[in-house]
Amino acid sequence: MNVLVTGGAGFIGSHVVVRLLEWGADVVVLDSLANSSQATLDTIEALTGRSLRFVKGDVRDISLLRELFAEHSIDAVIHLAGLKSVEESVRLPLDYYSTNVGGILTLLEVMEEAGTRRLVFSSSATVYGDPESVPVAETHAAGRAVNPYGRSKFFAEEVIRDFAATDPGWAVAILRYFNPAGAHASGLIGEDPKGQPNNLLPIVGRVAVGQQPTVGVYGNDYPTADGTGVRDYVHVCDLAQGHVQALDFLFRHAGAHVWNMGVGRGYSVLEVLKAFESACGKPIPYEVRDRRPGDIAESWADVAKVERELGWKSRKDIGQIVADVWRWQTSGMDA
Ligand code: NAD
Ligand code: WQD
Repeated sequence: MNVLVTGGAGFIGSHVVVRLLEWGADVVVLDSLANSSQATLDTIEALTGRSLRFVKGDVRDISLLRELFAEHSIDAVIHLAGLKSVEESVRLPLDYYSTNVGGILTLLEVMEEAGTRRLVFSSSATVYGDPESVPVAETHAAGRAVNPYGRSKFFAEEVIRDFAATDPGWAVAILRYFNPAGAHASGLIGEDPKGQPNNLLPIVGRVAVGQQPTVGVYGNDYPTADGTGVRDYVHVCDLAQGHVQALDFLFRHAGAHVWNMGVGRGYSVLEVLKAFESACGKPIPYEVRDRRPGDIAESWADVAKVERELGWKSRKDIGQIVADVWRWQTSGMDA
């Protein structure tokens, strides 16, 4: 089976590609390398002992996509390519709509031409905005996102749902990730964004190795147990396994399916810091700062639907997440 993975050199994509290769699929990666590097793909080949095909390019480039689909007989697509910074999306909304909405339009057009009608799409819990209650189920109103990034993901979902409804042959899985974190157990692939990271775990990792002086804790006056924000951190390798199961499901079930991908419980910022301190054996300096604009108090997933329908369950806990981030952060250096 030939699977096209867009964004396959990125954080989540690289772990998905490893699982696909281990599963026995043949993989074509399309990535612009806007936020990743080709070295990651070489590492994946070394890790799995399998080769993959790489096409460097933009998912919005329709001629390139047509060439790619003509050259490789693609059975299914996992679409992860996109921009993901909430803060950047407020400054550069057109870039976000162009990449995240324009990308799916181009991809669907070429998939339709090629007769490839199986798609797994990377969506985000951000489509729920500030949830009315937790845990958040898939039935919770979506489209309440409060920034261009979140809206771009919701619009992409809507485009996919509308398009999938045009032909009963379409099989799509929309995966709403909560807070992906962690790294591969080998310590060889992990989250390696270009520029300054925005997410908590990569920032804590950098502070732990002294690349940054302190973690700024964005607010300790939320209505949560210790006042800091609570999130559902899901291990990237569990997430990767979820993509393989979703893909497998689409070979047996048509239609459009939406699933939350989380652990089903939340941890506060201070709990994450404490877990990281246990993993690295030293204190993580932090200072409490003002709330980050647009942040919500708490969010974690209702995972009943994904467990029931897909049979997928996240297995790795916060202790494994921080241990793997620490291993990744210190690989190739003296800890
Ligand atoms: P990432 O930035 O590490 O990976 C995205 C990849 O897409 C990168 O390799 C980048 O070079 C590539 N890319 C960007 N624009 C492209 C374009 N126009 N054409 C081709 N390739 C392009 O991010 P990630 O964390 O691995 O996220 C993957 C997907 O999951 C994204 O769509 C993101 O919105 C979504 N998501 C991420 C999170 C998270 O917290 N990491 C949460 C929910 C959803
Ligand atoms: C987690 C918690 C922060 C950094 C974002 C996107 C979401 C999804 C995942 C893509 C919050 C706190 C963080 C720091 C802190 N991405 N924090 N100091 O905001 O839940 O979600 O990434 O789809 O769309 O919005 O994740 O890792 O940024 O923050 O105190 O330096 O850590 O306030 O409570 P978030 P995060």
